[in-house]
Amino acid sequence: RQIALIGAPTDIGAGTRGASMGPEALRVAGLRTALESHGLAVEDRGNLSGPTNPGLPPVYGYRHLEEAIAWNRAVHDAISLALADGRLPIMLGGDHSLAIGSISAVARHCRRVGKKLRVLWLDAHADFNTSVITPSGNIHGMPVACLCGHGPDPLTGMSDCRPAIDAAWVRQIGIRSVDQGEKRFVHEAGLEVFDMRFIDENGMRHTMEQALLGLDPDTHLHVSFDVDFLDPEIAPGVGTLVPGGPTYREAQLCMEMIADTGLLASLDVVELNPALDVRNKTAMLAVDLIESLFGKSTLMRREA
Ligand code: ARG
Ligand code: MN
Ligand code: MN
Ligand code: MN
Repeated sequence: RQIALIGAPTDIGAGTRGASMGPEALRVAGLRTALESHGLAVEDRGNLSGPTNPGLPPVYGYRHLEEAIAWNRAVHDAISLALADGRLPIMLGGDHSLAIGSISAVARHCRRVGKKLRVLWLDAHADFNTSVITPSGNIHGMPVACLCGHGPDPLTGMSDCRPAIDAAWVRQIGIRSVDQGEKRFVHEAGLEVFDMRFIDENGMRHTMEQALLGLDPDTHLHVSFDVDFLDPEIAPGVGTLVPGGPTYREAQLCMEMIADTGLLASLDVVELNPALDVRNKTAMLAVDLIESLFGKSTLMRREA
């Protein structure tokens, strides 16, 4: 597979500054050579550009809406282009609001080529807020809602189809922080959520078996990896850390089981915040996990 790395250096969707440095931290941690060591051809398409962070308070429930629209358009177009070129795009965030652009592009691609779409949302948060229920106005808390059609028109209709995706295509894993109004909305939408309690009770193996149920060779598998999915003890470099996340072993197994499907076709790596990291260790951990996601394993397990 040929990979395209696409950097989106912005933090306009977040409440804490610094995720804009994520793409470079992942490059410094050796993302490209790590992927190449697994026989993948990697093209680094550099960074997208867009408005700077104005640092303003929310307006009618959205902070930096115009800037979020501009950045998501840029991401949408770059991901669309990469998919049209037959590449497997990796969007290097940037904050998680950028998944609106990337997954809208992925959904459009799936409609064009007649594939089913499954989105695995690895995160401490459900990111299912709207302008009415958000406690912060931060758009990185809204991408799943926007993708499912709940949000402002320019974000819910990034591509040719609104909503971009159906809530039934999404599986959320690692969730442990959901806001009051968001809780009700997640329930109403029928999102399938494997929260930390589910993982505690059933283990990561059973959790992933459930989350990957029903895939077939015609499924495009998209992983949206919010680095705050991981336990903050191992991944301190994020702006919205929540204690009690998956351990190193659990996260590895999660990635390995996704790799085993052979269906991974696009990826977001978001919310890495080098300003809060310790000697780039969270970026290096992310690269380590991405290697597993692309098939790194200790022993030979299956025919290539
Ligand atoms: N739920 C909180 C909010 O709406 C936090 C969202 C954090 N999202 C993230 N992508 N890190 O502000
Ligand atoms: Mn998120
Ligand atoms: Mn999160
Ligand atoms: Mn809906």
